[in-house]
Amino acid sequence: MKYVKLGNSGVKVSQLCLGTWHLPVLPELDEYGVHKVDKELSLKLFKKAYDLGITFFDTANRYAGSMQTADLNHVGTSERILGEFLKSIDRESIILATKVRGKMGPWPHGEGLSRKHIMWQIKESLKRLNTTYIDLYQIHWPDPDTPKLETLRTLDSLVKQGLVYYIGESNHSAHDIVEFMELSERYNLEKFVSMQERYNIIDRRIEADKIPVAQRYGLALLVYSPLHQGLLTAKYVDFQNKTWKLPELSRASLFESVKNELFNDRNLKILLELNDIAKEKGITISQLALAWLIKRQEELNITIIPIIGVTSENQLLENIESLNVNLSSDDMKRIEELTRQS
Ligand SMILES: NC(=O)c1ccc[n+]([C@@H]2O[C@H](COP(=O)([O-])OP(=O)(O)OC[C@H]3O[C@@H](n4cnc5c(N)ncnc54)[C@H](OP(=O)(O)O)[C@@H]3O)[C@@H](O)[C@H]2O)c1
Repeated sequence: MKYVKLGNSGVKVSQLCLGTWHLPVLPELDEYGVHKVDKELSLKLFKKAYDLGITFFDTANRYAGSMQTADLNHVGTSERILGEFLKSIDRESIILATKVRGKMGPWPHGEGLSRKHIMWQIKESLKRLNTTYIDLYQIHWPDPDTPKLETLRTLDSLVKQGLVYYIGESNHSAHDIVEFMELSERYNLEKFVSMQERYNIIDRRIEADKIPVAQRYGLALLVYSPLHQGLLTAKYVDFQNKTWKLPELSRASLFESVKNELFNDRNLKILLELNDIAKEKGITISQLALAWLIKRQEELNITIIPIIGVTSENQLLENIESLNVNLSSDDMKRIEELTRQS
């Protein structure tokens, strides 16, 4: 494993982070008709990742492990399972990231980035995670109803109380992030050290505006959906017949919206070509996609940490192997042309 600095902070994290939005699921459904999370396998995967040197784990108060948009009956499941894992290791050996913003209670203040909501949710996250502090506390997405200064002052107070060590943002516009950074500077408040955004070979929209912000403020870029929710693998394409396929219990088979978003002609074309490049290099598409992100660090001069999600040990082993892939500038040019043309 390689370790990199979390943006401008002094703390080092593993080059890959393990995410917990989706966890492996069982074929059986719970009383609400939702697939049960395979807790035993989840714990095994966390431990395997840990044993392979992953020290950085990402979750969110809302993650349910088996739902894309969790309802109030299921929120908190991922934090609870991660909390169980924490009991089995030395808490000081990992960097634990979670998030706040999403709906956790039925009341008007049951969500958001107000002082009231954050002060409630930090206590709840600490309980679910079986810990006394969060290493990286991230605001999950914007809350236009709360003044940014209220959110920042609250986060700053959590750092002063030792409940949170570092703070980060996710899913805000470039303009919003700059505003937060300037407010922190002006009022001498704790500053974000990271941004968490979707970025991969297929979806490169953040290059236009958010990456320049990360460069300007030295923020680490924590990349979510680095495999475009599993599309950047060999699993969804029948390469011989150049058509889509849908493996059982895969994310696109469980969630119609994912399939609708991912299965289109542009993506099929990109995957067919990526498959050729991967084959030539003797690696898999997922390794190519992750190695591309890791290489982008040098080109963009920022720290990029892909947050991988896995539902089996094989996926974990395959993805971690990407750290041993070194893409040449010719490989990078080929991928560049492929995504620019498509
Ligand atoms: N801040 C945010 O708003 C936000 C949003 C999304 C995610 N996140 C974070 O980012 C993490 C990663 O996101 P993501 O799960 O969308 O990442 P991803 O890497 O794009 O997709 C992961 C999924 O792809 C499939 N997969 C992974 N490796 C594979 C392989 N080698 N071969 C075949 N299939 C493979 C698995 O799905 P199946 O096996 O189930 O098909 C796995 O769950 C999350 O867990 C979460 O921590 C944050």
